[in-house]
Amino acid sequence: MTRMHPAPRNCKRFQFWVASRMLSPMTNEWWRSAVIYQIYPRSFADASGDGVGDLAGITNRLDSLAHLGVDVVWLSPFMTSPQKDAGYDVADYRDVDPLFGTLEDFDAMLNRAHELGLKVIADLVPNHSSDQHPWFQEALAAAPGSVERARYMFREGRGETGELPPNNWESIFGGPAWTRVPDGQWYLHLFDSSQPDFDWSNEEVREEFRGILRFWLDRGVDGFRVDVAHGLVKAEGLPDYTPPADADSMGGAEPVPYWGQDGVHEIYRDWHKVLAEYEGDRVLCGEAWMPTVAEIANWVRPDEMHQSFNFPYLSSDWDAAELRTVIDESIEAFGSVGAPSTWVLSNHDVIRHATRLSLDEGTPQGHGIGPKTPNLPDEAAGLGRARAATTLMLALPGSAYVYQGEELGLPEAIDIPDEARQDPTWFRTNGERYGRDGCRVPLPWSVDGDSFGFSETGASWLPQPASWASYARDAQDGVEGSTLELYRSLLALRKEHALGTGSVSWLPSEDGVLALRNGDVTIIANVSGEPVALPEGRILAASGELDGGLVPADTTVWLG
Ligand code: NOJ
Repeated sequence: MTRMHPAPRNCKRFQFWVASRMLSPMTNEWWRSAVIYQIYPRSFADASGDGVGDLAGITNRLDSLAHLGVDVVWLSPFMTSPQKDAGYDVADYRDVDPLFGTLEDFDAMLNRAHELGLKVIADLVPNHSSDQHPWFQEALAAAPGSVERARYMFREGRGETGELPPNNWESIFGGPAWTRVPDGQWYLHLFDSSQPDFDWSNEEVREEFRGILRFWLDRGVDGFRVDVAHGLVKAEGLPDYTPPADADSMGGAEPVPYWGQDGVHEIYRDWHKVLAEYEGDRVLCGEAWMPTVAEIANWVRPDEMHQSFNFPYLSSDWDAAELRTVIDESIEAFGSVGAPSTWVLSNHDVIRHATRLSLDEGTPQGHGIGPKTPNLPDEAAGLGRARAATTLMLALPGSAYVYQGEELGLPEAIDIPDEARQDPTWFRTNGERYGRDGCRVPLPWSVDGDSFGFSETGASWLPQPASWASYARDAQDGVEGSTLELYRSLLALRKEHALGTGSVSWLPSEDGVLALRNGDVTIIANVSGEPVALPEGRILAASGELDGGLVPADTTVWLG
C-alpha cells in the first residue's frame, strides 16, 4: 500500500512539513482544542435498574453534558465482555455487551449526542482480548504451532520440562505475566490472565483490527481512545526485565521490553490511513503511559495518532515548579510534531484528583487507597486544591480531558468493603493493593434516592458513600460557587476567550505562584501554601473565595 501523505523522515524536510501542517487551514480541527468528557458506562447512569450503568442511561443524561459545556464524550468499553476487567477484556469487538444494551442502544446514544453537538469517541482495546474471545478459545483448542495460536503470544516454557514461564515479566495487575495451558505452552498477558495479548506481528491480527475500526467508523463514531497504545509490540526475543523497586506501571528510566517499542508506530500509521478514508475529522487518542512528554509526543507525529494523554501532567505533584516545567515541556514536545498538548487530571485508573493531589505521599499508579491507607487528606481541603488544579488546567491551550464526577468534586471513595471490591488488582495481589474501585463508584445525580438517582431501583454495583448526597448534581445545579457551576463557567469562558487555541506566556510571579497569560486572560494559580496579592483586573472566575485583595492558598483565578 502506498501512503497518501508520506511523512518525510529526513529531519529538515520533516520540520518543514510539520510547520506547514501547523500553518495550514487544517489546524482548526476540533480535536486540537476540544474538552473531552470521559464516561465510565458502568458508573454513569443506570436505566435498566440492575445497578450497572448502561447506554440508555447515558442517552437519557447526555443533555446534562451538553449543558456542562463539553465538546466530546469518550466512552470506556461497552463491547461484549465477561467484565473481568470492567470491559477492558473484549470477547466481541463488534457488539455491545448485554449489560450495557444493544447496538441499537448504541446508535440511539450516538444520534442523540450528535444532535446535541457532542462528538463520540469509543474505547478500543487492541493489546489483548478476553480469554472468552472466539480466537482465544480456538487457540486453546488448537495445537502448539497452529495458526490459531499464532494470533496470541504462546511460547514454550523454560526449565527442563518447560515448567518455568518463558521470561520473568510481571503482570501490571500483579503476579506473573504468563499462564500455562494444559499442553504445557504458556501465553502472555500483560494484565489479567483473562486478557491474553495479541501477537501484532501477525498480519491476520492487523487486518482484523482494520475491520473493527471500520465497523465503528461506519456506525458514525468520531474516533477511538486506544487502550495500552504503547504495548502492542514486544521486544524481539522477549528478554527478561525487572522494573526498579519504586517503579510504577511505566517502568523506570531504562527501556521496557513491552512498552514503547518502535514497531507500534507502524500500526498507528496504518490506522491513520483507515481513519482518513472517512469524512470529518476522526481521531485516535493514545493511552501511552510513557515516562516523559517527549516520548509520548512520538505517538502524535503527523501521520500517527491525533492526541495522546499527558500522563506526566496527571502525575505531577501540586508544586509550582513541577507544574511549570511539565506545562512548558508539553507545549514544546507536542508542538514540535504539530500536535496539540492534552491535559488530564483524573480517569478511571487513578485516584481522583480531589484526593490524590493532597495525599502525603503518592501511591504508585494503580495501587489505589483504602481504609488502611495512613494520613488520608481532609476532604474539603482536597476539594479546594482540586478546584484550583482544574481552573489551571482548563486555562491551558490544547485539549483537556474531564473524568465523570470530577465536575461534582467527587473524592476517591475510600471505605469500600473488601467483599465489594472488583478490580482484578485487588484479587491478584491478595488485597495488598486496593486497586481502582475507589474512582469508579457510580455517580450521585440527586440528593434523594437509594443510589442518589444513579438507578431508579437504588441498586449500585459499588456502594456509594453516604456523604455523596452533598455532591449530588441536583444539589449543585444552579448553586453559585458549587463545583458544578465552577466547571460550567470555566468551560464557557474557555470557549469565549478561545483559550483552547491560545498560547501560554509566563508572567513574573512570586515563588510558588504560577502566573501566565493566554490570549486576553491572566491566570494566577497559588500553589505556594500562603495567600498572595491579587493583581489588578476584572475577575472572570475563581476556584475559591477570594479574601479581599488576596488569593488564598490553593486557589486559581482568571482575570480579564
Ligand atoms: C488501561 C485501562 O485504562 C485500564 O482500565 C485497563 O485495566 C488496562 N488498560 C488493561 O486494558
